[in-house]
Amino acid sequence: MGPPGAGKGTQVKILSKMLGVPSMSTGDVLRAEVASGSELGRLAKSYMDRGELVPDEVVIKIVEKWLREGKAREGFILDGFPRNVRQARELDEMLKREGVELTAAIYLDVPEEEVVRRLSGRLSCKRCGAVYHVQFNPPREDLKCDACGGELYQREDDREEVVRQRFRVYVESTRPVLDYYESTGKLLVVNGLGTIEEVSKRIADGLRGMAHSR
Ligand code: AP5
Ligand code: MG
Ligand code: ZN
Repeated sequence: MGPPGAGKGTQVKILSKMLGVPSMSTGDVLRAEVASGSELGRLAKSYMDRGELVPDEVVIKIVEKWLREGKAREGFILDGFPRNVRQARELDEMLKREGVELTAAIYLDVPEEEVVRRLSGRLSCKRCGAVYHVQFNPPREDLKCDACGGELYQREDDREEVVRQRFRVYVESTRPVLDYYESTGKLLVVNGLGTIEEVSKRIADGLRGMAHSR
């Protein structure tokens, strides 16, 4: 968890490789729906372009379907879900049904001004969802994804006024989820400032610390 541009996607890719477990970003799945032109995609787009949350029913179904496909049996990472307390409660129910328990809710703490700075230079891969930054994490070749060769583009919701709205929505709806996980002792707060490598190391150290204290 964390505000828009906190580095969730960037860190999830790294952690997923490190732990050898699959990951899923509700934002990436929604963007794929938008790109496909499906009815669901059209509905989602009307919220995403304004920086609002897509209705809970829609995203909960996406997560449910992904978990049911069974890829996540040996562990998994969710990126951008849950985003409000209702989604957090639903996730608990889903996991109970699957017979698994959440290890940690990782929160990347990054202030608003840094978020705006990061998102104004972000490039995202159309094909695999990998993210780059023109300055902080440039691709080897201009506008081409290092990982899959896909085309890089700027997300429509990365315009400054939409970023600020996404940040407001985050403060209002997603911050309360932090208290939800704090109360169950699952919250891992990580300072999201510094280089990508520094943040990865903090996450890995934090997870090890949690494993030891259990
Ligand atoms: P989503 O796609 O999840 O967007 P977000 O939460 O706004 O987060 P971002 O993807 O913008 O940022 P990130 O934290 O992944 O950062 P990144 O690693 O890319 O959601 C989009 C929309 O979908 C929502 O607004 C909503 O409408 C809908 N949605 C999704 N999930 C939903 C849900 N559960 N419920 C309802 N609606 C939902 O990094 C950002 C940039 O910074 C990159 O350029 C990167 O290279 C760079 N960077 C990363 N780390 C560093 C660093 N340490 N130093 C310098 N630069 C860095
Ligand atoms: Mg992301
Ligand atoms: Zn790619």
